[in-house]
Amino acid sequence: MGVDPVTQSNRQAWEEASRKNVAQFDDELLAWAASGSSLTDAERGLLGDILGRAPEVVHLQSGNGTDDAALVLAGAKSVLGVDYSSVATAAAQRRADKLGLPIRYVMGTVPGVPLADRSADLVYTGKGALIWMADLDAWAAEAARLLRPGGHLFVYEGHPALVLWTWDEDQPRIREDRDYFGRSLVNDTFPARGAVEWQWNLGQIVTAVVAAGLEVLSLSEYPEPFWRMGGVNAAAWNGRLPNSFALLARSAVRDVMPAGESVRR
Ligand SMILES: C[S@@+](CC[C@H](N)C(=O)[O-])C[C@H]1O[C@@H](n2cnc3c(N)ncnc32)[C@H](O)[C@@H]1O
Repeated sequence: MGVDPVTQSNRQAWEEASRKNVAQFDDELLAWAASGSSLTDAERGLLGDILGRAPEVVHLQSGNGTDDAALVLAGAKSVLGVDYSSVATAAAQRRADKLGLPIRYVMGTVPGVPLADRSADLVYTGKGALIWMADLDAWAAEAARLLRPGGHLFVYEGHPALVLWTWDEDQPRIREDRDYFGRSLVNDTFPARGAVEWQWNLGQIVTAVVAAGLEVLSLSEYPEPFWRMGGVNAAAWNGRLPNSFALLARSAVRDVMPAGESVRR
């Protein structure tokens, strides 16, 4: 599949950001992965039963991989992480191998990852993933394609309204240069400063998931951001405004695979 020019230049930005992450935080990321603590309480609450069934997980846009260690330590049988950054996938693989965890990484661009249909009991993604998708319908179709019948898609993401809030510490304000219904914006913070983020509102996200044939089981909004920039204590993060959301969806239980066809993970 051809890759659009914005995705190509964003990929360069992520290679650069991943290089900085490895250079500055490799030891911290290893310790964080070893602790298995990167899943939030909200994630653990929503995923508890699913992880209790030892799912095979595909993590789209797996980044530094700390969530993959946490998923395995919370019950996943294995995790296959996919990311288009060669630096991020290599570093995450090194850390997983050091910890002896059943986690494998492959390089791939979402959508269009080099994995077979029905590879996963759980497709896990988020924490700064959807904003890099130029085509949300294609993303949702990719997630649905990867799920086995009855499998789950779980997204834990920055709330689409998050980009509107200033980081003022005295009180929250709305940025003059941002629009909830905007199409895109330029990232102005570490790690991907300068990259073009796509904006998807909650309606568009839910509609894309439903259009891909998945059943939405829950959609929850939270005041806590999934990530706090070091040294910043924005009033907008202190409990009154939406800063993250979680969506859990399921593929149809009925197996519609043609007789005789088999799939290898
Ligand atoms: C903010 S990070 C979040 C990753 C992960 N959830 C984490 O917490 O580490 C975004 C990741 O998405 C990857 N990425 C962005 N666009 C992508 C695409 N179209 N295909 C594959 N990976 C992509 C980047 O390389 C980066 O590692």
